[in-house]
Amino acid sequence: MPKKNFIDDLISRMTVEEKAAQMLQVPVSVVGMDEARKWARLGVGSFLNVLGEDMEELARICAEESRLKIPTIFGIDAVHGHCLNKDATIFPSQLAMACSWNKDLVRKIAKITATEVATEGIQWTFSPILCLARDPRWGRTNETFGEDKFLSGELGAAMIKGYQGEDLSDDTAVLACAKHFIAYGEATGGRDSYDTEITMRKVRDEFLPPFKKAVDAGVATFMTAYGSLDGVPLTANEKALRGLLREELGFDGFVVTDWDTVNALINRQKVCADHKEASRVAAKSGNDMIMATLEFYKAVIDQVKKGKLDESYLDEAVKHILTIKLRLNLWEKPLKKGIPGSIGCRSHLNAAVEAARESVVLLKNNGVLPVRKGKKIRRIAVIGPNADDIRAQYGDWTYFTHPVPGIEKEPQRPYVTILEGMRDIADHKGIEIRYSYGCSVNRREYYKGNFESIPAFMEQCYIDNSRKTDTYKEMPFINEAASLARECDLIVLAIGDNYNQAGEYNDRAELRPSGMQEALVRVLSTLHIPMITVVVASKPLVLTDIVEKSDAVICAFNGGMFGGQAVAEAIFGKINPQGRLPISFPVVTGQVPVYYNQLPGWHEGRYVDCTEEPLFAFGEGLSYTWYEYSDLKFNKRTKTVSVTVTNNGKRRGVETVQVYVNDVVSSVMTAVKNLAGFERVELDAGESKTVKIKLEDEAFSVVLPDETRVIEPGQFEIFAGHSSKDEDLLKVTVTL
Ligand code: NOJ
Repeated sequence: MPKKNFIDDLISRMTVEEKAAQMLQVPVSVVGMDEARKWARLGVGSFLNVLGEDMEELARICAEESRLKIPTIFGIDAVHGHCLNKDATIFPSQLAMACSWNKDLVRKIAKITATEVATEGIQWTFSPILCLARDPRWGRTNETFGEDKFLSGELGAAMIKGYQGEDLSDDTAVLACAKHFIAYGEATGGRDSYDTEITMRKVRDEFLPPFKKAVDAGVATFMTAYGSLDGVPLTANEKALRGLLREELGFDGFVVTDWDTVNALINRQKVCADHKEASRVAAKSGNDMIMATLEFYKAVIDQVKKGKLDESYLDEAVKHILTIKLRLNLWEKPLKKGIPGSIGCRSHLNAAVEAARESVVLLKNNGVLPVRKGKKIRRIAVIGPNADDIRAQYGDWTYFTHPVPGIEKEPQRPYVTILEGMRDIADHKGIEIRYSYGCSVNRREYYKGNFESIPAFMEQCYIDNSRKTDTYKEMPFINEAASLARECDLIVLAIGDNYNQAGEYNDRAELRPSGMQEALVRVLSTLHIPMITVVVASKPLVLTDIVEKSDAVICAFNGGMFGGQAVAEAIFGKINPQGRLPISFPVVTGQVPVYYNQLPGWHEGRYVDCTEEPLFAFGEGLSYTWYEYSDLKFNKRTKTVSVTVTNNGKRRGVETVQVYVNDVVSSVMTAVKNLAGFERVELDAGESKTVKIKLEDEAFSVVLPDETRVIEPGQFEIFAGHSSKDEDLLKVTVTL
């Protein structure tokens, strides 16, 4: 039978019940295997959160025991490596990977992840996130590529190509999932799943572009967002799912809801009275597969049988799903084969080292770095809650945070924490490393020791009386760290957040480092010993005081297995840091939003008690060399920027040339500048290169109130340079 008719023929033989089952995705981690087997016999479309023999059994039941023998698909959140499997390679978080600004690297990591996922048999990862993190209070900031639509779109497209390869039927290709559609990260107050108070014009202008790039890259699936857009839940949002996604972007894969969002229409967002209505609304709005709302099955059958929902909605959804299943060649190979032995293999681990290195961002250096022999360093104090905590280094979405039944939750080797990385290198250099925990990240994990011997100066150093009890409890730890540091020539302090301050349900109202971390910094700074602060965190934290008190600051976000090694290599100068921030850091929490591409305002855009400048801006990042820009030109015909970059330092380095555009006068207000292109360039000491970057037409466009995107003729400022900060950019003005 020709493939073209295969699916139509299959659909014509499916009962309403089988179509409803095909539209369902069953969470095995929740229902257990007994119930999962029943669903498999009904011919359920997909399962999630199951591995190993259980998965093989469910695949076999669907493919051999269900009436029509339609193979099922298994999905998993392999969002920074196949991280729910303890043996797999764990890469830096998406936010940390974004610091590389390296499309080739992101694609390579995605290919490796796909290979490991496929070797498990699984055909689908729920990645990448293309939401923008413009309010870092949002718990899922770590899962994004940062705050910018262009960078997110470029890296997202690379990731999708890495996951999906050339052909979905390849043994190492898995389906990617562009999520969460749409504007999910912009939820009011950074509160996960809340309403997004923006207009469709803004959606198109600011949040649609990365998803458009995902469709252009051929992404096979989309996931809806938990939240709502101007009061309309995304799972019930026909305008977004059918209008924007299908009609406008031309998406031809299938759409899965996020977890239990059909139930949320009833009991959370309260736009539907019961499961019958919610199932009808979900099907009509353009969802093809329903994740985890098992009530959908009976309810949707009821609605079709009562004539309340046209069966064609089910046909359409099932067709989308089966078409992708056919492209995966599931009828011949119900499970992927991958490459046996590839999970966590040496070459994959090497890529994790490379990714960790590229995710390190040097934010401040008064000359203390890199640590070299001649600097008379004999003893280094490594201090802090995140110096030796692999869970904090991994962040969200690993087998600790999202355990799949049967998987060990304890950290599995190989990995290198900062303490271990420092020891490895220091040993070779004859430098002694001493370690002290310092204090906890979470106030929940107090030191349980003896609270009697708190020196008076410790008590004074933390002035917040409301937290006095906590202060007392952690003082002995801080005291111990200070005593240890006094005997050392250098302090490497690792602070930040940890995995239970990131992810769903874990938004933060306060971005200052939690617990006693600021007190720890304050105490250590009174010792007048050079201090390098390393931030291991899921998001930008408020580091204003800490930066001032530190001689150097390194941002490492969640660096994955070898995050600690990369940090140590940067400290000792074995690598030249080259990461650039994909997100801005606020001076105080109340300064949020602080993303770089805001609309221009009057009155300087600042608060009376705070500057308008962020603490660190989008695109920033130092290295052990420095670059000079010259000769910026723009070719109007080819829309190509050309600029010369010279490495004026003494070390080879990689500079990320950033190009921004500002529409000088437009009929609707446009951002002060928008990233429009970037290119990494490797330069030896003293070397110059001319970099050419072709800009897309969209860089010069504006979305009008009627929601159309147009290019308005006139003047444009074109900037090129080292970061989004004006002082780092050269400018030419052109008329187009
Ligand atoms: C909910 C999350 O929002 C989504 O990103 C994830 O892919 C699904 N759960 C499946 O675990």
